[in-house]
Amino acid sequence: MAAALRKTVRTLIGRRLTALYVTCSTVVRLLIRELARMRILIRCRQRCSNDPEFILGELRIWGHIVDKGLRAENWETNHGGAPYQELCRQLERLKDSALVADPSYQWALDIKKEYEATQAQGCRNGHGTTSPSTGIEKNDLLNLIKNRRSIRSFENRPIAKEILEELADVVSWSATSCNRQPTKLFITQNPEKVALCMRQCAGATCFGETSPCFAAVCADTRPYILQDRNLPFIDASLGLQNMLLLSHVHGIGVTLLNWMHHTPEEDAILRRTLKIPEHYLVVTNLIMGYTDKSIPAPGRKAGSLAYVLVD
Ligand SMILES: Cc1cc2nc3c(=O)[nH]c(=O)nc-3n(C[C@H](O)[C@H](O)[C@H](O)COP(=O)(O)O)c2cc1C
Repeated sequence: MAAALRKTVRTLIGRRLTALYVTCSTVVRLLIRELARMRILIRCRQRCSNDPEFILGELRIWGHIVDKGLRAENWETNHGGAPYQELCRQLERLKDSALVADPSYQWALDIKKEYEATQAQGCRNGHGTTSPSTGIEKNDLLNLIKNRRSIRSFENRPIAKEILEELADVVSWSATSCNRQPTKLFITQNPEKVALCMRQCAGATCFGETSPCFAAVCADTRPYILQDRNLPFIDASLGLQNMLLLSHVHGIGVTLLNWMHHTPEEDAILRRTLKIPEHYLVVTNLIMGYTDKSIPAPGRKAGSLAYVLVD
């Protein structure tokens, strides 16, 4: 019915005018969405400023700045006082929370102690330690990267919670802007919820009969200022590639589901089903499950097309 209507309108007003109308209305819709995203970013940053997880994120940022100063070639005493004060402030704010057990809190505490020791001694100990060996061969790494595939057909069995936690954990081991580590996975293995979430994703096509696990890959937007509002896409995506590789080692196939085309209604259903708070940006979605399937790799462009070397 809708398709017939579209065809009639196209015939009446012409292809070019239709295309112009579609482009203009898409631009307006996306601008409205972008403004709404900025509004959420400003509002959530103010409103959640006492939430321990938000403070822990701020702590990682200040810990990173002090840490970078401690490793700098041009290190000097009396430098970095302001970031150190901020680091102390965030540590103090968290000291009575359960998050003191978090490894990133402990790391920040160690950075504070190291900063204080270097200031007291007027020099640094053990600066510039050598890089540890990876213990893996280049070809092993290349095989892992090149054999990973987007798989859409799975065995009917869930993934153990310990494995899910291991996969979520490795996401934080990528580079992230200012060490923010914003990514969180909202996961379900409830078959009805998996099916409901999949129905919200336009790209969820060509999947087999069972899709055991659905995850929304989300980024906490509160540690970002407006100018940085697109960094969560980069931070989450770098971590996600770690997870795809580790999943492959576990025999778990994963396919990303694009989340750029969703309607406000689809967004609301996904957030309600997976209990995703407003301050989390949905970067992409995943379907995951055990698989023994292997499919041919889509052809890759030549390395020579992937770079430009400027003299
Ligand atoms: C950002 C992104 C969005 C994607 N969205 C979808 C999707 O909606 N549906 C789907 O079936 N595959 C999706 N994919 C998977 C790609 O089709 C797949 O990665 C690509 O064809 C290369 O194949 P490979 O992953 O097996 O190497 C997506 C991949 C990325 C990186």
